[in-house]
Amino acid sequence: MTQMTIRRPDDWHLHLRDGAMLGAVIDDTARHFARAIIMPNLVPPVVTGAEAAAYRDRIMACVNPSHGFTPLMTLYLTETTDPDDVAAVAKSGLINAVKLYPAGATTNSASGVRDLDKVIVVLEKMAEIGLPLCVHGEVTDPQIDIFDREAVFIETVLDPLRRRVPDLRVVLEHVTTSDGVDYVRSGGANIAATITTHHLFINRNHILAGGIRPHYYCLPVAKRESHRRALIAAAISDDGSFFLGTDSAPHLDAAKLMACGCAGIYTAPNTMSCLAHIFEAEDALDQLEGFTSLHGPGFYRLPVNEDRITLVKQDAPVIYPESRATPDGPLTIFDCGTPLYWAVQDAK
Ligand code: NCD
Ligand code: ZN
Repeated sequence: MTQMTIRRPDDWHLHLRDGAMLGAVIDDTARHFARAIIMPNLVPPVVTGAEAAAYRDRIMACVNPSHGFTPLMTLYLTETTDPDDVAAVAKSGLINAVKLYPAGATTNSASGVRDLDKVIVVLEKMAEIGLPLCVHGEVTDPQIDIFDREAVFIETVLDPLRRRVPDLRVVLEHVTTSDGVDYVRSGGANIAATITTHHLFINRNHILAGGIRPHYYCLPVAKRESHRRALIAAAISDDGSFFLGTDSAPHLDAAKLMACGCAGIYTAPNTMSCLAHIFEAEDALDQLEGFTSLHGPGFYRLPVNEDRITLVKQDAPVIYPESRATPDGPLTIFDCGTPLYWAVQDAK
């Protein structure tokens, strides 16, 4: 196959930041994706409906309108979030989800949740109104090995929470382990998972063997190869519980290339090329549309996109720049480690 046309994709987990960075990155997503779930981990975080509305306006003021892009907003759950506020903001149509960050788990998560008991009333309200909870699924206990933090979270936090609020609809964000895949696969209709672009390409050797590669460092950190294989198997299956959430997370090179560098990988520009490559390598191009364009709207109970994009396989590799310029310095684009031949046709 050298050409394929699919429904326009959506990105169910995206960091756009704010200010100059927002202006530098927004069109990389909007060029290909119709909608994206916008993560609320700004500093300070997006906690109220008014803050989400203002952030949405700043995004719309930056994006090239010819792309026809719609940001799907989220609220950052804190221990003082009011359930009735969440319900009112959801009813107004402004937000499509609430994000749970265990306090300290990742970039800008200091205002996150320490004690789940304090947010149970919010979660019960969300269950009642069918509003999804997006979960950063890692424990923060320093005693727990970083490679085990997702599996331990599922067993000690997520599963007990779901038993306590069984009607809560949960997205396990950026799943990185076979434990997570198995849990979601057998978890019924109220659980789904996003899978990132980069976790389909890299395992922990890519980060650490033969030199340390900060541009491959993200959270949850990539695991061993058997886990990457489990993620690929989930992505290319026709199981509607798994869909694309790039977790494209821009950080300036200056913030990544230092003694204690930031977590996050910037995949927005070349995600569709990367995905076509890996689905083709798995002989599963026919499953790409489900993963990028059908399963996500299914879980979020939104209509699928009516417009289409065409991917074309070129004879020569598609050349992506190594980085994007921003007013504050360069931002490195994900290098998936192999030449890419699939390009999105007529991408503006
Ligand atoms: C994200 C970021 O930079 O905001 N970083 C990351 O490594 N994925 C936060 C997150 O999604 O954990
Ligand atoms: Zn993220």
